[in-house]
Amino acid sequence: MSITVKPLHTVFVAGVTGLDLREPLTDGTVAAVEAAINQYGVLVFPGQFIDDEQQMAFSRRFGDLETTVKLYRKDYVPRLNPHVSDISNLDENNRIRAKDDRLRLNGLGNRLWHSDSSFKRVPARFSLLSARRIPSEGGETQFADMRAAWDALPDGKKALLDGMICEHTQLFSRAKIGFTDWSEEERVKMAPVPQLMVRTHPASGRKSLYLSSHAGRIRGMEEPEARMMLMDLMEFATQPQFVHTHNWTVGDLVMWDNRCTMHRAREHDETQVRDLHRTTVSDGLPTVAAEAA
Ligand code: OGA
Ligand code: MN
Repeated sequence: MSITVKPLHTVFVAGVTGLDLREPLTDGTVAAVEAAINQYGVLVFPGQFIDDEQQMAFSRRFGDLETTVKLYRKDYVPRLNPHVSDISNLDENNRIRAKDDRLRLNGLGNRLWHSDSSFKRVPARFSLLSARRIPSEGGETQFADMRAAWDALPDGKKALLDGMICEHTQLFSRAKIGFTDWSEEERVKMAPVPQLMVRTHPASGRKSLYLSSHAGRIRGMEEPEARMMLMDLMEFATQPQFVHTHNWTVGDLVMWDNRCTMHRAREHDETQVRDLHRTTVSDGLPTVAAEAA
């Protein structure tokens, strides 16, 4: 069996077939997947009915996995392995969470455009999201190509942005949806981290805007000006020509490169189950070299 990579209606998303993710893969197959993700940014593997162990084994071929940090969860009983993020509307008893459930409300933040773990000093490189149960309609995931957005910026703007450092925290993204109910201890743990505004992809050499709803400040800039600049850039980068919508089918595994894409969830009927499991490969290093204390 050899793998086939075919673009799907857009330049930055490809479908990958001809491999079975339940089985260990050869180094050659892994290298082909890595070359494809570095070229495209988003890969869709249809018909992969994997369990969490198989998903973790596949994901680990690309680097170390992140562990989910559940900050505010004294009351939180995890449903999944610590290396698997629970992207669902279910609680530990597999029941749909109540309207006012704090985890549900926090999870609504996934409907804001973001790049995974940009609120961590060492952010995510790849995310791999496996569809286990999906609602009958809605609940799509959208992706935006941040290399194409960068390429489309006027030269003057590129020169202005290159080298800027933003500050990211989940406090900023959650505040956007009015979720501000954090303990002092949580706020301390969620202190903003620096991230480059413009990144260069190490494999392709392409530059991209590194935006995320977690970004709320720009170093050396007044806060209202920084916020407006981030909002304007976000609007620019998520124009329809840069965006692809993925309509889920159970068994899809979608892998994306957080260094050069953003994504967001779309709404769905919350009386229906939506259950996706995510593994996340760490980027290994901060985007901004460690600063002297
Ligand atoms: C994620 C995420 C979006 C979705 O898994 O990181 O943001 O559509 N998911 O569930
Ligand atoms: Mn995400």
